[in-house]
Amino acid sequence: MRHINIKNSLTALSLVFVSSVYAQEEFIRISTDQTDLILKTAPNKRLYQAYLGERLINDSDINELPHYIARPGSDGSVTPRGWEVYPVSGGEDFFDPAFGITHNDGNMTSYLYYRSHEVNDIDDNVRETIIKMADDKYPLDITLHYMTFAKENIIKSWTEISHGEKKTVTLNQYASSMLYFESPKYVLHEYSSDHSQEAKLQTQELKFGKKVVDTKLGSRAAMFTHPFFQLGFTDEVTENHGKVLFGTLGWTGNFRFTFEVDNVNNLRVISGINPYASNYELKPGEVFTTPEFIFTLGYNGIGQASRDIHDWARKYQLKDGMGDRRTLLNNWEATGMDFDEKILGEWMVEAKNLGVDMFLLDDGWFANKYPRNDDKAGLGDWEPNREKLPNGIPGLVDAAKKAGIEFGLWVEPEMVNPKSELFEKHPDWAIRQPNRDTYYYRDQLVLDLSNPKVQDYAFGVVDKILSENPDLTYLKWDCNSPITNIYSPYLKNKQNNLYVDHVRGIYNILKRVTDKYPDVEIMMCSGGGARCDYEGLKYFGEFWCSDNTDPVDRLFIQWNFSQYFPIKAMAAHVTSWNKDASIKFRTDVAMMCKLGFDISLKELTADEQQFCAEAVANFKRLKPVILEGDFYRLVSPYDGNHTAVMHVTKDQNKATLMAYDIFPGFKEKLYPVKLQGLDPARRYRVKEINLMPGTESVLPENNKVYSGDYLMKVGLDAFSATRMNSKVIEITVE
Ligand code: DGJ
Repeated sequence: MRHINIKNSLTALSLVFVSSVYAQEEFIRISTDQTDLILKTAPNKRLYQAYLGERLINDSDINELPHYIARPGSDGSVTPRGWEVYPVSGGEDFFDPAFGITHNDGNMTSYLYYRSHEVNDIDDNVRETIIKMADDKYPLDITLHYMTFAKENIIKSWTEISHGEKKTVTLNQYASSMLYFESPKYVLHEYSSDHSQEAKLQTQELKFGKKVVDTKLGSRAAMFTHPFFQLGFTDEVTENHGKVLFGTLGWTGNFRFTFEVDNVNNLRVISGINPYASNYELKPGEVFTTPEFIFTLGYNGIGQASRDIHDWARKYQLKDGMGDRRTLLNNWEATGMDFDEKILGEWMVEAKNLGVDMFLLDDGWFANKYPRNDDKAGLGDWEPNREKLPNGIPGLVDAAKKAGIEFGLWVEPEMVNPKSELFEKHPDWAIRQPNRDTYYYRDQLVLDLSNPKVQDYAFGVVDKILSENPDLTYLKWDCNSPITNIYSPYLKNKQNNLYVDHVRGIYNILKRVTDKYPDVEIMMCSGGGARCDYEGLKYFGEFWCSDNTDPVDRLFIQWNFSQYFPIKAMAAHVTSWNKDASIKFRTDVAMMCKLGFDISLKELTADEQQFCAEAVANFKRLKPVILEGDFYRLVSPYDGNHTAVMHVTKDQNKATLMAYDIFPGFKEKLYPVKLQGLDPARRYRVKEINLMPGTESVLPENNKVYSGDYLMKVGLDAFSATRMNSKVIEITVE
């Protein structure tokens, strides 16, 4: 084993692995400040998970850990079986493996033996452990990577696969990671989804057998289920109690989590790309890198684990995670594709009056031969429509400048409408069957991004817009169709690689765009929230949670996405969905996340407009609290007719409490909201903000000062018996 401090080593990138072939017994300790994942080689030189759980205090205890091979048989023989770190098909383990391969000679087994490992300290907080393993009969190399983030208690793991056989081998399974658990109880929290129904929480106890959570949609891949889950190890894991595993896969395509409870009630969790219709053909010498599986174990409930992931994401994964976010006014909900330059000019003035930073022009601005006036035509022809926009995008950028705001633009570069000049010219650039009738989702087809030429085209579309308009610094990047008619004209007889190579093609494009335009902010959108994964978020600073902006539904959607994603990554807009809810309620709900508007101010009364402008000003002032603070989910909307959340600055000087009454019943008993995250010893002033003009706060504690201890133990009377009512309360240390 070799331990290298990268910070102090200029030669870090050219490390040579120490080869300790068939070492006697190796312990590999992969730790954060709170968690230990301990791997151990067995006498058979294979690698096993010896421990995963709360960090062991005494280093010497590690030597006591067993390697999880089966106990001796009645004849005294010991069969190595179970808890192997990266088990392969055809081994002695009869449950689902992490990896499956067909070698050139048709053999479908592989046994992996530990060869060496090294540990690289990237800095004081981040450490990478790299473990090399190989088959002894075939030239197959597997490298396991574990990256730990000590303070945030996060572990990322991924795997590299390569071989030196004569011809391509077929990878039948290629998980990112496999973890084992031993507990009397496993309760899975998963999130089903659909358009406007994102992040719907379902829980179930896992018993003997297999539970698979996967998608097969290719692009818009999370439309039916999201790539994240939680696993509770006690009857009830709550926000502040219980041990819980959070797991998520950084992959914008088909993913699969397999939870298998075996015959002795041990649980295996296998996470990775979904190998569905993807027996990947890997050339000799090529390295197949799996996506990152990111996980944390929380020992004090869901809330702390969420905050750990939020901290990690802001610091290490989310594009511009520590940077600012801009507020905006979008036109989609109000105008659809029916607008022209004059109308957009008026929107820009409205945006200025509202006080937001930017006007965002949505779908419908492009295509001339087949104008984009509805979703049936034009995708692929990214020239501004001359009738709607005679002065093109530069004209709009200028108009925005004159109005004193910034300008952002919607694009959907991965798609094509058959009714487009692009399709007429390059029908072979679309994924579609050569010999069957085509079927469509939203009248469009997915471009074949496994084809480098098509990647160049898609990059070129965005590059042209951004290079011609240097003042355009925001894009909404949409993706409205799953892959239909699965056939790549480019890959021909290598269709097995389509789903994987397509997603890699998307990353190539995104990397080129973000490398060339690092300051352009991009919103990840996919017909609402059907893209929301941590590999994608390396290129996007925020994502659009849902087209469903009904504030009541949004309270649930935001509650659930916030389990995994920091508040600053979650875009939430005020719209005219659910007009029974007041504009205040709609705004207060959006203000929980990154506030924006998608509504014509002309719909609003003067008082309502004034309220919105004041809310924008409040939001901007409170950005350090709302976007950078710790997020506490205080009262769940699943538990009754109310919900409340809090954002608290790291120095505990300032907080916001947002309390929402959904549908309270007649004379319902109202409980005070007990705050969290404050300093019990300090005193805080409580002040309700976001009040409609001419109204006064009815909060009994308004404008009074309390200790943090009081606010956390006694609480505030922030709920009411009024339906769809809300309060935004600013809490400031005195
Ligand atoms: C789906 C997005 O979620 C909407 O916000 C909007 O941009 C439309 N696409 C435009 O086609």
